[in-house]
Amino acid sequence: VDKKTIAFIGCGNMAGSMIRGLVADGYPKEKLWATNRQTDRLNELADQLGVHVTSDNLEAVLNADVLVLAVKPKVMRQLCNEIKETVQKQKPLIISVAIGVSAEMLSNWLGEGLAIVRSMPNTPSLIGAGAAGLFENAEVSAAEHDVAESIHRAVGMVIWVKQESLIDVVASLSGSGPAYFFYFMELMEKTACNLGLDGEAANLLALQTALGASKLAIESSDSVEVLRRKVTSPKGTTEQALAVFQAYLPEVVEKAMHAAVKRAGQLTNDLAKEE
Ligand SMILES: NC(=O)c1ccc[n+]([C@@H]2O[C@H](COP(=O)([O-])OP(=O)(O)OC[C@H]3O[C@@H](n4cnc5c(N)ncnc54)[C@H](OP(=O)(O)O)[C@@H]3O)[C@@H](O)[C@H]2O)c1
Repeated sequence: VDKKTIAFIGCGNMAGSMIRGLVADGYPKEKLWATNRQTDRLNELADQLGVHVTSDNLEAVLNADVLVLAVKPKVMRQLCNEIKETVQKQKPLIISVAIGVSAEMLSNWLGEGLAIVRSMPNTPSLIGAGAAGLFENAEVSAAEHDVAESIHRAVGMVIWVKQESLIDVVASLSGSGPAYFFYFMELMEKTACNLGLDGEAANLLALQTALGASKLAIESSDSVEVLRRKVTSPKGTTEQALAVFQAYLPEVVEKAMHAAVKRAGQLTNDLAKEE
């Protein structure tokens, strides 16, 4: 199939993970462009992967069939201003990964009539194990839908949401989720160390257990709830630990994810106020 030329504007953690994931999956490097303000990141990408790099955003836009906007929400408006004219000439499919920036804002800032996909990816895209939620505006054609999906599928799995507000929920689940699991592993590791296990052993066991649990859950036909019950023998040690988790965790997880969704809404409101 004819691969589209994809330009990533803003090559920080998220875009860097996607670009590395795409190259690892065999995406032709000559079809990938990356721009950034600081050039050290770009030089690294050019040296290691051989993709096109430039600190001139307009040069990248001029080459793009697909434009991935991956700057922080607060600088998105200024970026859109800078590239607007060129985008209107080129009319690429726009994919924005920024939290809090609505499709309507992007359409106001870049000009009407553009096909816009809002994406909420995550950094495990780096190793092909990403999880992304996508939303499309009314201008996205069936062919563009497939392009957006295949780009994300190359670095992991994809779901679509029909309601744009659900992108904030995806952000609180899989967008931020890797950090939650890192934190949980960190705490388990620390506790095992406090209980006497050496640091390296605790680290390896915590990480491998997270991988094993996730892989088992993905490959098994049982739900995570059933799998949990299978590990929990009556009167056993797991039951004791789970009783403690069950007393505290439901409320903690609920509060944490609500806080993330709330923050996404605040970002949107702050940006709307500036308009
Ligand atoms: N990190 C995640 O796990 C994750 C997950 C889902 C979505 N997101 C979204 O992804 C976006 C980027 O997040 P991030 O964590 O990757 O942030 P980041 O590491 O700070 O990356 C943003 C990059 O954009 C560059 N940049 C800023 N203004 C620019 C401009 N005008 N032209 C070209 N490049 C510019 C920055 O360069 P300088 O450093 O030189 O300013 C920086 O390298 C955010 O909108 C975030 O909401 C992130």
